[in-house]
Amino acid sequence: MSTLKAVRGTRDLLPPETELWNKVEATARRVFARYNFGEIRTPLFEDTSLFARGVGEETDIVSKEMYTWEDRARAQSEKPQSLTLRPENTAGVVRAYIEHKLGETGMLQKLYYIGPQFRRERPQKGRYRQFWQIGAEVIGPASAGSESPLRDAEVLEMLAAFLHELGIRDAKLSINSVGSASDRPRYVAALREALQDKAPQMCVDCQRRAETNPLRVLDCKVPEDQPIIDALPKIADYLDEESKAHFAAVCAALDACGVAYEVNPRLVRGLDYYTRTTFEFSHGGLGAQNALLGGGRYDGLSEAIGGPKAPGIGFAMGEDRLILTLQAQASEAASTLADAYVAPLGEGMNAAALRLAHELRGAGLKIELGDGSFRLKKSFEMGNKLARKIILFGEDELASGMLTVKDFASGEQVKVARGEIAHFLGA
Ligand code: HAM
Repeated sequence: MSTLKAVRGTRDLLPPETELWNKVEATARRVFARYNFGEIRTPLFEDTSLFARGVGEETDIVSKEMYTWEDRARAQSEKPQSLTLRPENTAGVVRAYIEHKLGETGMLQKLYYIGPQFRRERPQKGRYRQFWQIGAEVIGPASAGSESPLRDAEVLEMLAAFLHELGIRDAKLSINSVGSASDRPRYVAALREALQDKAPQMCVDCQRRAETNPLRVLDCKVPEDQPIIDALPKIADYLDEESKAHFAAVCAALDACGVAYEVNPRLVRGLDYYTRTTFEFSHGGLGAQNALLGGGRYDGLSEAIGGPKAPGIGFAMGEDRLILTLQAQASEAASTLADAYVAPLGEGMNAAALRLAHELRGAGLKIELGDGSFRLKKSFEMGNKLARKIILFGEDELASGMLTVKDFASGEQVKVARGEIAHFLGA
């Protein structure tokens, strides 16, 4: 008999790794509690129409990735109910908000959840068919301030605080506005028109997306398509005055509390319920699946699934990806490799190289210092064994103040100003 294994795209989490999972979850609960969020637990499966109406029939998630089955009918006369393992939890939380009439309290509901989600995607590092999300949603009647840009900024500030408290470094926040429910169709129409000429020159996926869901073209990563995509109409030019003012207010509030971000006009996200603010935190260490978390505003979702007007904003973090990032950081810290190997080019450069190494060590970096008597090839060999990067330091570099830095892992070589080098190396 063949041995049974966990199904493709699923995995067992074993000790001691589960301790790290518990730590991540405890940190989330602690941080969210400071913002007065309470926990909600919704079922792992829901009526399929919740996701079709909420997330959107045309999205990849609903059209290709859901685990859906027909439940057995109780009576012969009854139609079997179509059920689906939840691919995400925002639709379920909004369904619960409507079902339990939480809007009647007149207050904002601040709810968080931790649990597995299911998507039939192609498994790879950081992408699984059963994965965990830690998410939170702020929903309520407009009279409770649910539409205010301050809610968006507060959620993003909470995320920045969480990542900091968890010890995740170098996460990058990208934000955008996809406009109101009326802005989006105008933009999609403009995109569709522009793509009529351009799509035939693009990859096969884009040719299909141009027909089915033109917004998805903006997610394309194929290098040859990038100049074409950059020249397509931008959503920012299709926002009405209110959406523009809303986005400007979100940015101003983030500036005021020192949350760093980058505006990415291509960030439209893969779920149809978004309106206005969308955002993602990404991390370079994750490789292709670099989105640590994603979220945004969904002012029309409650109405789309038959509820009252209840604007909202929220996010979900990929817990598996938080764990991968923490593990990578820990193994980097445990590694004996130095941050850089300073290679003096010629014996006359030894004293100046010692001075450079002194400065960099003073900035908290781990530095190996070579010797000017080594030939360049030997410096590279030594550097490769001892450090992540090599800094070439010769007469020219001393005179120009620009040092050549090569990364051994990526092979990338760049010129960095001497005053910037400590920062460049991660100090
Ligand atoms: P999403 O971008 O589909 O958004 O997923 C959020 C995060 O879940 C992603 O950034 C990623 O970290 C993680 N994730 C997604 N798919 C996988 C997978 N197959 N394997 C591992 N991790 C994955 C949502 O789900 C929205 N409900 C977020 C939201 C909440 N928007 C408003 N409120």
